[in-house]
Amino acid sequence: YSNLKYAIKDSIGYVIINREPQLNALNQETLDELQDIFKHFNSDDHVRGIILTGAGHKAFAAGADIKEFMDLSVIQARWLSERGHIIFTDLIEASPKPVIAAINGYALGGGLEMALACHIRIASENAKMGLPEVSLGLIPGYGGTQRLPKLIGKGQAMQMILTGDMIDAQRAYELGLVNEVIAQDKLIARAEEILQKIFTRSRVAVANAIAAINAAEDKQQNGNKVEMDAFGHLFGTDDFKEGVSAFLAKRTPNFE
Ligand code: CAA
Repeated sequence: YSNLKYAIKDSIGYVIINREPQLNALNQETLDELQDIFKHFNSDDHVRGIILTGAGHKAFAAGADIKEFMDLSVIQARWLSERGHIIFTDLIEASPKPVIAAINGYALGGGLEMALACHIRIASENAKMGLPEVSLGLIPGYGGTQRLPKLIGKGQAMQMILTGDMIDAQRAYELGLVNEVIAQDKLIARAEEILQKIFTRSRVAVANAIAAINAAEDKQQNGNKVEMDAFGHLFGTDDFKEGVSAFLAKRTPNFE
């Protein structure tokens, strides 16, 4: 890839936006590459969870690449927004594997929207987050108007989106936008620790939990029905038999 670094280690797939001089801004080629790597990781059995972060110490991703905007027609811009939605929704949010955004600096515009599509967000102490699109005469285009209100409430999301102001990591924590604030040099280690904990649980149960939680917010689905179906389905799995047998025998389950 020209704009991403990636690796697989200890069952974790790492995706690192690698455009440090541009503060990891998401140009269209980066979107293509994100689509490719997430397709890969989502179907690779060696990967049980994913960490998404930005190269360097300054930015997670400072938004869509504004330098590509000037030449876009109305139709091309509409399609760009749709592509962002498709990649973030179908490949990141709907990934059956837990995806953690390790927000290591600026997460602005499309960069914050990418983090919003992840299942868990943790931020370094120097992180700054915002949706500044109105200052460009735009609105968030990669799902921000839909995901931010669900996460932090409509009123707080309105204020962030209408003012375009940035908030710091501590404020993001208070709002529930990030789950934890960590020293920058410990950020990836903490993301790894969270994933390794999840890996001790049943893989099929984790995937079904993600799908049921996502269904709650999906107007096309009946979330209650998705939960009931998944709950019933899991009773037919080996992991269920192992998990319950281990509990009754007072031992640690071995899901592999
Ligand atoms: N697109 C393209 N280039 C960007 C960029 C972006 N979103 N953000 C930063 N860069 C580039 C700068 O142009 C600069 O490049 P040059 O050295 O070639 O000039 C380089 O990264 C470093 O940036 P700054 O010199 O501006 O760094 P700074 O420390 O002074 O400021 C910043 C940091 C406050 C994050 C500032 O760069 C900034 O405001 N960036 C734009 C943030 C933004 O508006 N994001 C929303 C984009 S629109 C969007 O995302 C639409 C959508 O919803 C899909």
